[in-house]
Amino acid sequence: PAWGRPAVTRPEPRACIVGWPAKHSRSPLIHGYWLKTLGLPGSYGVEEVAPGDMVGFLRTLQARGYVGCNVTVPHKETAYRTVEVLTDRARALQAVNTVWIERGVLHGDNTDIVGFLASLDAGAPGWDRKAAHAVVLGAGGASRAIVAGLLDRGVELVTVVNRTRDRAEALAESFGRRVQAVGWESVGQLLPPADLLVNTTSLGMKGQPPLDIDLDGLKESAVVTDIVYVPLETALLAQARSRGHQVVDGLGMLLHQAAAGFEHWFGRRPEVTPELRQVIVDDLAR
Ligand code: ATR
Repeated sequence: PAWGRPAVTRPEPRACIVGWPAKHSRSPLIHGYWLKTLGLPGSYGVEEVAPGDMVGFLRTLQARGYVGCNVTVPHKETAYRTVEVLTDRARALQAVNTVWIERGVLHGDNTDIVGFLASLDAGAPGWDRKAAHAVVLGAGGASRAIVAGLLDRGVELVTVVNRTRDRAEALAESFGRRVQAVGWESVGQLLPPADLLVNTTSLGMKGQPPLDIDLDGLKESAVVTDIVYVPLETALLAQARSRGHQVVDGLGMLLHQAAAGFEHWFGRRPEVTPELRQVIVDDLAR
């Protein structure tokens, strides 16, 4: 430039999703949409990294030209053990799905909790004012994040129902007295007092068996939500909708957890808009 200082060209921030496999991920489409519509420099790609290579991958993340990454199956626990600075949420879940670098140091967060809560807030505003009792189907990693989020927002009692009862019991025990575990056979008795029903299992997902549950007995004011988003309208949500319940599909959680990561890497909080939802819905239909 004319005033004599050499122009400093900053490399464009690059982020990616790391998984094994990861090719089917919609995250590049989501982040690419935000980069384009916000007019920000940057890119978001895909890295398939085998389980044995994940620690090395994270330690060389910066050298590979990345400012951060999303972490998906099966690497969330490895990321939790590898990053140097953890948020409280990541520590509570012992799982990291979002990594960024600050002054050369790896930081890890888990944005599934805020993603789930933001999706519920958007799809069923005011849900938490009346949700005293929640029933959560499933006891895996997604369930753990959702239970933590529900407790954070004041739900008095969370009942976890899982095919493998031991897993539900271990999860309930790790949270304390506001979480209880029951066997799948008692789900019918749980429905009448429930204000919120959440499916966190993979049942109902394309290619998986259906979730076989009869919602008879669920009170009309109860909200029903599913984390499955392929298909968007699962049999559970279709049944709930036909009974007059407010329903929240699983795409919102994916989009809202992504928004939190985007802010870490690209410096702006993006919005989850109907237009973005439609872009992903169209892609899923392909
Ligand atoms: P995520 O991280 O998505 O939660 P996960 O840890 O593999 O994934 O958990 C999958 C959940 O779906 C578990 O609750 C699992 O039940 P088990 O603990 O009994 O395995 C549940 N799930 C998957 N397939 C199922 C099936 N066919 N019937 C009942 N539950 C199933």
